[in-house]
Amino acid sequence: MIVSPSILSCDFGNVERDTKMLDASEADWLHIDVMDGVFAPNISFGFPILKSVNQHTDKILDVHLMIVNPDHFIKEFVDAGADIITVHFEACTHLHRSIQLIKSFGIKAGVALNPHTPVSVLEEVIHDLDLVLIMSVNPGFGGEKFIESSVAKVKKLKTLIEENNASVIIEVDGGVNIETGKKLSEAGADALVAGSYVFKSENPSETIASLKKL
Ligand code: DX5
Ligand code: ZN
Repeated sequence: MIVSPSILSCDFGNVERDTKMLDASEADWLHIDVMDGVFAPNISFGFPILKSVNQHTDKILDVHLMIVNPDHFIKEFVDAGADIITVHFEACTHLHRSIQLIKSFGIKAGVALNPHTPVSVLEEVIHDLDLVLIMSVNPGFGGEKFIESSVAKVKKLKTLIEENNASVIIEVDGGVNIETGKKLSEAGADALVAGSYVFKSENPSETIASLKKL
């Protein structure tokens, strides 16, 4: 299992310390949640934090853009260290263009789906994608309750990918813990994002290691 702890739940007074902790852990990626207060009902952080995280880790930076007009900022996110950029289906009028723009920088492109958006909307672009992010909570906050129907949605996505002979990573984000993570793994998830479950645990590195084994 690919594990991508979300720094949204870290201590922002100690970004360097928490990033170094994740860097030394078994985490594969670091998940970076960017919210603009327009697409998402919350504002998180932007380039200065991303640059600071990038300075203190060699891990892959998995950037999740919960913003409108993401195309305006793709280059800046790449320059700040993004290795994967995921945009929201619901925020992109010209999704195909947004995906190609991300890929033109030689990094991986992902599309995130809100809980209400069916996986079938990706049929025409599935071959262009490196990753699909299934949101198992509504965007905006860490620590929210897992939406159970996401497990069936992961299975549907896996079927869509297989039917199209595509090669796409299935990532799931929101309310992930060892129990929901197990169900998601069985359903076909390749990557799990975990914020509060990691940072609120007594030993975040051990928690990451336990998710890795799923
Ligand atoms: C939610 C973010 C998530 C969030 C997950 O809007 O996209 O990545 O950090 O937090 P937990 O794991 O606490 O649900
Ligand atoms: Zn996220």
